[in-house]
Amino acid sequence: MSWHEIYKQKQMNVDEAVKKIKSGDRVVVGHAVGEPQELTEAMVKNKEQYENVEIVHMVAMGKSEYASPDMAPHFRHNSIFVGGTTRKAVAEGRADFTPCYFSEIPRLFKEGYLPVDVALIQISKPDEHGYCSFGVSNDYTKPAAECAELVIAEINDQMPRTLGDSFIHVSEIDCIVETSHPVIELQPPRIGEVEKAIGENCASLIEDGATLQLGIGAIPDAVLLFLKDKKDLGIHSEMFSDGVVELVEAGVINNSKKSIHKGKMVVTFLMGTKRLYDFVDNNPSVEMYPVDYVNDPCVIMQNDNMVSINSCIQVDFMGQVASESIGLKQFSGVGGQVDYVRGASMSKGGKAIIAMPSTASRGQISRIVPMLDEGSAVTTSRNDVHYVVTEYGVASLRGKSLKERARQLIHIAHPNFREELVKEWEKRFNDKF
Ligand code: COA
Repeated sequence: MSWHEIYKQKQMNVDEAVKKIKSGDRVVVGHAVGEPQELTEAMVKNKEQYENVEIVHMVAMGKSEYASPDMAPHFRHNSIFVGGTTRKAVAEGRADFTPCYFSEIPRLFKEGYLPVDVALIQISKPDEHGYCSFGVSNDYTKPAAECAELVIAEINDQMPRTLGDSFIHVSEIDCIVETSHPVIELQPPRIGEVEKAIGENCASLIEDGATLQLGIGAIPDAVLLFLKDKKDLGIHSEMFSDGVVELVEAGVINNSKKSIHKGKMVVTFLMGTKRLYDFVDNNPSVEMYPVDYVNDPCVIMQNDNMVSINSCIQVDFMGQVASESIGLKQFSGVGGQVDYVRGASMSKGGKAIIAMPSTASRGQISRIVPMLDEGSAVTTSRNDVHYVVTEYGVASLRGKSLKERARQLIHIAHPNFREELVKEWEKRFNDKF
C-alpha cells in the first residue's frame, strides 16, 4: 500500500481522534510551541468522556485548560516544568510536579517509569516519501511518539520542516488530523539596562570560536547583542530564538570551529517568531535531534570551548544555585540547566555561566544570599558552579574555597545589600572582609 493510501485510512476529524483516548491513560503532549493545540482543545472540550487522564507536559505554551479547577475529575496534570499556565495548579495541589533533567525525560518514557499510552503531536505535512518533520519540537516529543501505544498527530501545513533526526513516517502514526494554523509565536523580550550590563559581562567571557548554549529570555538575548564583533561562533543548545538568526545573517555564527557537527547548529526545540520558523524551514545548517542526544553532557562536552549561559533565582554564599523554586514554591524546573553546566564544565576550554540580575522584586530582594530560602531546591550544586554573572561583574567560583567564593559573590551583589552581606560573611568566617 502506498503511503498516500495509508495516510487516507488514518485521517479523521479532531473529535474522532481524541475519542481514542481512554480514561486512565497517560497522555504526553508535544512540547512548547509544538503543542498540538487543536488536539488539546478538543480533548478539553470532550472532557466528559474521560476520567483521570494524566497529562504529561513540559513547557506549556498553549492554554493548559486541562489544569483548571473544573477539570479535576477528568484530567490530572503532571508537569515536568512549571510555567505561567500551570503554576497555580501545582501550587494548589491540583497538579503534580516531577523533577527530571531534560536530557533524561525520554528515559522516563522508554524505561517504564512513565509508560506512554498516548502521544499527542504536531508535525509538518509529509514529504514525497511520506515522512513528516517534528518541526519546532523534537526534544521529548519524538521519543514519546516512538514508544506510545497510540500516536495522534496534528499535521499542520504551517509547521516548518526541520532536518536532522527529526522525522516520523505516516505509517508510524495511528490517527491523522489535518490542520492549518500559525505555529505559536514568542515575541522577543524587552531588554533593559540591567540585562544589557549582564549581557556585556557574559560576552566578555566568550572567545572567538566558542560554541554556545543560550536559554530563553532577556538575558540570553542581551548576550547576543554583545557578540556582534566576535568570530566563528557555533551553536549547540537545547533551543534558540530569533536573536541567533541575526548573528547567523551577520556571519558571526558560522559553526566553523565546532568539534562535532561542524557547520551545523544543533538544537532540540525552537521558540520565536515566524522569522525564526521560516529560517529553520528545510535549512540544512540546522539539525534537530531528540533531547537525550542534544542535552547529553557527554555529547555537549565534545565541543571544545563550550559556553553555557543559564539563569537562576538565588545563589547562596557556598555557590549553591536555586533556579526553579522560590522556597517551597515550584516556579519552573531544572530544564537543561544542569545538562549544560555539566557539559560545558567538562568541555576542553569550556565555561558554565549562571547569569542573573543582582536583585528581584523591583530591587527589594538580593538574589545573592547567605542561605537559600527555606525549602528551595538546589538546581546546580556548589560543586558544579563555575561563573556567576550579574550586572556588577563576574564571580569565578571554580577552585575557590567557601570563604573566597562568598567574597567574590558579595563583590557582584547589588550595592544596597553589600553591607548586610559583608556582616554575614564576617560572622560566618570569623574574619574581616
Ligand atoms: N526571591 C523572591 N522572588 C524571586 C527571586 C528571589 N530570589 N528571584 C526571582 N523572584 C521572582 C521575581 O521577582 C519574579 O516575580 P514576578 O514575576 O512576580 O516579578 C519571578 O520570581 C521570576 O523571576 P525572573 O528572574 O524574572 O524570572 P525569569 O523569567 O527571568 O526566569 C528562571 C528565571 C531562573 C526562573 C529561569 O531561567 C529558569 O526557570 N531556569 C531554570 C531552567 C533553565 O535554566 N533551563 C535552561 C535554559 S532554557
